[in-house]
Amino acid sequence: MATGAFEQLLREMIGLSSETVGASVIRHALKRRMTACEMSDLHSYWRYLSESRTERQELIDAVVVPETWFFRDREAFAAMTRQARENRGAGVPLRLLSLPCSTGEEPYSMAMALFDAGFEAREFSIDAIDVSTRNLVYAERAIYGRNSFRGDDLGYRDRHFDAVEGGFRPHERVRRQVCFALGNLLGPAPQPRPEPYDVIFCRNLLIYFDRETQGLALDRLRQMLAESGLLLLGPAESGLPTLHGFASVRFPRAFAFVRASAVEHAPAPAPPRRSRPAPPPAQALRRIAPPVRPFAQKAAPGEAASPAPDRAAMSLATIEHAANAGRLGEVKRAAASHLEEFGPSAEVFYLLGLAHDADDAPSDAIQNYRKALYLAPDHRQALVQLKLLLQRQGDKAGAKALTDRLDRIAKRSDV
Ligand SMILES: C[S@@+](CC[C@H](N)C(=O)[O-])C[C@H]1O[C@@H](n2cnc3c(N)ncnc32)[C@H](O)[C@@H]1O
Repeated sequence: MATGAFEQLLREMIGLSSETVGASVIRHALKRRMTACEMSDLHSYWRYLSESRTERQELIDAVVVPETWFFRDREAFAAMTRQARENRGAGVPLRLLSLPCSTGEEPYSMAMALFDAGFEAREFSIDAIDVSTRNLVYAERAIYGRNSFRGDDLGYRDRHFDAVEGGFRPHERVRRQVCFALGNLLGPAPQPRPEPYDVIFCRNLLIYFDRETQGLALDRLRQMLAESGLLLLGPAESGLPTLHGFASVRFPRAFAFVRASAVEHAPAPAPPRRSRPAPPPAQALRRIAPPVRPFAQKAAPGEAASPAPDRAAMSLATIEHAANAGRLGEVKRAAASHLEEFGPSAEVFYLLGLAHDADDAPSDAIQNYRKALYLAPDHRQALVQLKLLLQRQGDKAGAKALTDRLDRIAKRSDV
């Protein structure tokens, strides 16, 4: 058996492009995992992988590149601070996101930079998301060795860290600002839509994707960003956003972008910021679905960030909750009752599609995604999931038609 199937699986799960990272990186990760599982042939490992969600996560942990350090590209943090100052005093805490956060150096640097700029703890919250559980465990433990501190200017370490056994640990005041969660930038979009972010760091992730996936990722980032929000990318990624509806803010070496529409309308007053308080970090983090559990980390009933939900919305939230717990039979039963009581909706068909997808029933999944799209032709998540499914089935033409449709929607929403 060749490794092509594994490369394809990783592309579908986390967007990793073997052409970009090199097939040898993937082969190396496979070898490590097969040794850990005491398996010597690719066939048995493939079977095991398709049965075990835990092993799929282990493979992701083995293949991702966690490279990061404190204040990597300082200008990005200066641009963030400027943005935070401009948005200060709107009466609601600033919402910031580090995705991917890797082992935590980036989001902790964001907190330190804001404290150094005079912000109070209650003025901002930082969500930090990564697809690797191993990285997140490290981030929450928060003990850092020499490799995390690079460059000459380490004054922040004196101000914000304690020396502990094994390295340095950020003060509790810094750690408390950051809320970590497992999530996948390319996973199904959360419903209802989370509160938008004022600043998103998405640095050094898009480089691992192919062109098409980069487009999908930027689309997702735009959905998560406030109208006047700031997006920060890595140096090697800075050519991409202008092709996808963003404009550079021309802050030297910060690789910072806003929506192109925000620049075009620059003389007009900025759109009003959120009028209600941001949810506390613990809730804010149940947003982005993890890699191979399409439903997890959504809001459980009663936790949704939207105003008091009506009965239909509560019923949908219950279906999501069952799906989060992997109770697929219950999802299908609850969806049938929901349809009977509240009638058809794109959302319930979308959830049913996801349930069948997770249950390895592609034709039922396709049927349900198509019903969702019949009711809501611009339902992006249904389009993306259907497209990925068609790709997995080798239906290139079908997948391409959906990509074109997504492009058209993206263009329309940019104008
Ligand atoms: C090179 S690190 C970047 C960390 C940090 N943003 C920085 O620039 O220093 C890349 C991280 O992306 C994470 N990652 C890879 N694919 C992802 C995905 N689809 N969604 C979320 N995180 C992902 C990996 O686990 C890894 O921690």
